[in-house]
Parts: sequence; structure tokens; C-alpha cells
Amino acid sequence: MNDLPRDPLVALPRDRLVALLREMPKAELHIHIEGSLEPELIFKLAQRNGVALAYPNVEALRAAYAFSDLQSFLDIYYAGASVLLKEADFFEMAWAYFERAAADNVVHAELFFDPQTHTARGVAIEDVIVGLAHACRRAHAELGISASLILCFLRHLSEDAAFATLEQALPYRDHFIGVGLDSSERGHPPEKFARVFARCRELGLHVVAHAGEEGPPAYIWNALDVLKVERIDHGVRCVEDPALVQRLAAERMPLTVCPLSNVRLRVYGSMAEHALPALLDAGLCVVLNSDDPAYFGGYINENFVAAFEALPQLDARHAYTLARNSFEASFAPAADKQRWRRELDAVFTRLAG
Ligand code: HPA
Ligand code: ZN
Repeated sequence: MNDLPRDPLVALPRDRLVALLREMPKAELHIHIEGSLEPELIFKLAQRNGVALAYPNVEALRAAYAFSDLQSFLDIYYAGASVLLKEADFFEMAWAYFERAAADNVVHAELFFDPQTHTARGVAIEDVIVGLAHACRRAHAELGISASLILCFLRHLSEDAAFATLEQALPYRDHFIGVGLDSSERGHPPEKFARVFARCRELGLHVVAHAGEEGPPAYIWNALDVLKVERIDHGVRCVEDPALVQRLAAERMPLTVCPLSNVRLRVYGSMAEHALPALLDAGLCVVLNSDDPAYFGGYINENFVAAFEALPQLDARHAYTLARNSFEASFAPAADKQRWRRELDAVFTRLAG
């Protein structure tokens, strides 16, 4: 692995490995900010905004977080997001995430947000974007986290609805760096959004898409060939198609993998069955992320720790690779990537010395 000495990293005791996973600088590239809304904040905002919830208290809401698949999660996730009405709500949600991210040594975060979930309830897109952008600016100023926003289209809605959302968002173009595609995957293939993604690329926006979480490898092929994405979100089902794995490796196409999400949404029966080691062995540019941390049992460091604890074949070399990939796969300026990479190397060089 590059120029770092191998043996001290392989031999690192597991408790020191866990400390390293927590301590190393990292970027988070797959976090739905609405999925960071903790039950306590849901109830606080519900009360402040006079929104009625279907659950009597935090405990009852948390108890409902037993999902059988992606759709069963999305139903609860959209219900939770219904408490977000004002610019200040969006700011408060994102700020709470940044405080958690700082504690996990996240130095850069690219946040997904779902404007259609809010505009459908009469919330102005300006309040969504300006509130989130304010939190991003403050995260940089006060926490040293570089942060940007990626607007996601809901794939269960039409392409025309995505175009309308893009139009509404364009006055705030300076506040987001790209677009993504999320929500119910099965039955909503990437090619449904071919024209709107083409327009976004023309506008100079970065483009990413969820593909191969529950959907088949064909959705990953089409995200690449039709949407021309720069990263695949999830993508774990690529392992079913060796030619696809080869292509992803050859192109160094990043996969933003979310281990706890995959187990909670039953993509895998258990963490021990996760494809992460196979993806890394295939030389893919894998990045670890939390997806919807308030719903899936943990933030980014919990994802690292849960994966490494359940998969004993992963060692400190893999930790280094994952952190390095997170910087490489980000849309941050090259100078920032270089600086974070030096900080990462310093942490590992200390260990190996
Ligand atoms: N998959 C698809 N859409 C989503 C997710 C997810 O894990 N989280 C929030 N929207
Ligand atoms: Zn996601």
C-alpha cells in the first residue's frame, strides 16, 4: 500500500485500530441531512411549529425504527422531515449534524438534501437552501469543516417534477455544488432522469446518483452511461456483475458505501456478510458514510467501527485506504485534498513509526 510501511499497520491491536478509525481525518460524502434529524429534535421542532406527529414521544418514535427494506424506512423518514418548516429549522438540523461530524474528525462533508420533500408541504425552497447554506458557512468558520450541498431529486416523482425543482433552485445556484438521485430505487431506473441530468451537467453541476442499493447492476451501468455520474451512491450490488466491477475499478469510480444503512435496510443479513472486503479487494474507490445516521444506529465513526468489528479481515491499511479515498472522491479543491491527505499521512506515520 503506497509508501507506508505495512507491518505495524497490520499488527495494530484491535482496540488501537478502533481508536485510529475514530481519530483519523475523513470526508463524508453520503449523508442525507434530513436523515440526521434525531427523534429529540423532531419532537422539539414539532412542538415549535405546531406539527402533529403519529407517535406520542421520542421512545415510541425510536421504537418504530425497525425497517424491512428501503421503502419502509422512507415512509418514516418523510414523516420525520414533516416538522421542518422554517429556515431556522434547516439551519438547526444541519448544525447538529456538523457538531457530531466534528467530534468524528470529519474535515469535509457533502450533504444531500431533498427539496421536494419540503416544497410539497408548502415550504419555500429558499428557506431550505439558505438555512442549510448558513450552517455550512458556520461549520467552516467555527468547526473548521469544509461543507457543501448536493440537491437530490426524488426518483419516485417524475422527471418533469425534477425539472421544476431545478428551476426553483437555480436562483440559489451558488449554494449547491451538484445534484443527486435518491428515494425508492426499484422501478425508478436512472434513465428516467436522463434529460434533467444532461441539463445539470450543462449547468456545470456535479452529478451523482444512488444506484445498486436495492436496484440491480443495470441501474449502475445506466447511472454511468446515461446520467454520466461522477460517483455512485451505494453501488454494492455491483459485485453481482464482474464486468461492472472491472469497469468501476478501471475508472476509479467512487462508491459511497453505507454499512449500517445496508444492514438496517436488509441489503445484507448481517454486517459480517457485507461486501466491503470484496469491494476493497477488487481495488474499487470505496468511501464509508452514514447515509441517515439518526435512523440507522450511528454516525460515520460508528459505521467504521461496526464494519471493522464485524469484518476481521479489515485492518489499518484498509482504514488508510478508505480515508484517502474519501478525499480523492470528494468535490473539494485539489489544494484541500492535498492538505487533508498530509494530515492523514501524519496520523498513520506516527502509528507506523
Ligand atoms: N436510499 C435512497 N434514498 C434515500 C436514502 C437511502 O438510503 N436515504 C434517504 N433517502
Ligand atoms: Zn443515501
